Amino acid sequence: MTDRDHTAERLLRSSAAHSYDPAVEIDWDAPLVPGKYFVPPHRSSLYGTPIWERLSPEQRIELTRHEAASIAGLGVWFETILMQLLIRDYFRQDPTAPHAQYALTEIGDECRHSVMFGRMIASLGTPVYRPSGFDHWLGSWIAHTGTGPRMFAAILIAEEILDTLQREAMTCEDVQPLVRMVSRIHVVEEARHVRYARAELARQIRTAGRGRLTFDRLVIGRAAWLTGMRLIDPRVYRAVGIAPEVGRRAARTNPYHRETLQWAAERVVTYLQDLDLITGPGATLWRASGLLPR
Ligand SMILES: [Fe+2]
Ligand SMILES: [Fe+2]
Repeated sequence: MTDRDHTAERLLRSSAAHSYDPAVEIDWDAPLVPGKYFVPPHRSSLYGTPIWERLSPEQRIELTRHEAASIAGLGVWFETILMQLLIRDYFRQDPTAPHAQYALTEIGDECRHSVMFGRMIASLGTPVYRPSGFDHWLGSWIAHTGTGPRMFAAILIAEEILDTLQREAMTCEDVQPLVRMVSRIHVVEEARHVRYARAELARQIRTAGRGRLTFDRLVIGRAAWLTGMRLIDPRVYRAVGIAPEVGRRAARTNPYHRETLQWAAERVVTYLQDLDLITGPGATLWRASGLLPR
């Protein structure tokens, strides 16, 4: 058996022991708790800004409700791309191989996650925030053509950033129990996905040619840019009477929000730097994404 299959066997055992059905585990009929935030308040994109100071306590909570929906919306969007990438890859694989079976198991996890995030967004009663226009076109291009390093690096960026945010949210007393429970389930299952994507990425880089890697670094940089710019969709600010462009600018210059982005991205940035993936023309996009330390 290959290393790849040994890793897959471990992940399959962990999947069998620790998988959750959100339809059963979460009390979807429980009402939201008054006075609780939807993301930890200090992680709101406007926390600490003059706009934040002017908002009433209810408006601050309302803003975080839309921010949580934006993060979940981006999560579903990335998960839908990942499921397509994995199923296309699986189509070429031997169905008796553990690594092929693990890919299919991960698709099963992501199916449940996307239903869970969708139900959470419905419970929050917000619009569905997700990439549109050119970003959506690029996502669908990646979903249809992505293979090798660019496929796993793009996925890893989204998974690790979401994971860091959710690890904090799941333990935060100020946060709605619904969001904490959704975060907890996601964190447990994503730990396997992160291990799988990290191992696959390192393996595929070893076999990728130079030209291939140059192109992939650019695509990876674009995925990082999208994640940094669209984690909080500017349309969320409308919920508290702020024009999207005004809110977006305040968030981009907010030192607390910049710190949040860098903190959330720190682990994946270190990993991708070690693999020499944050260089070349893609590095400019990385710098603009707000995810790199200054
Ligand atoms: Fe997921
Ligand atoms: Fe995942």
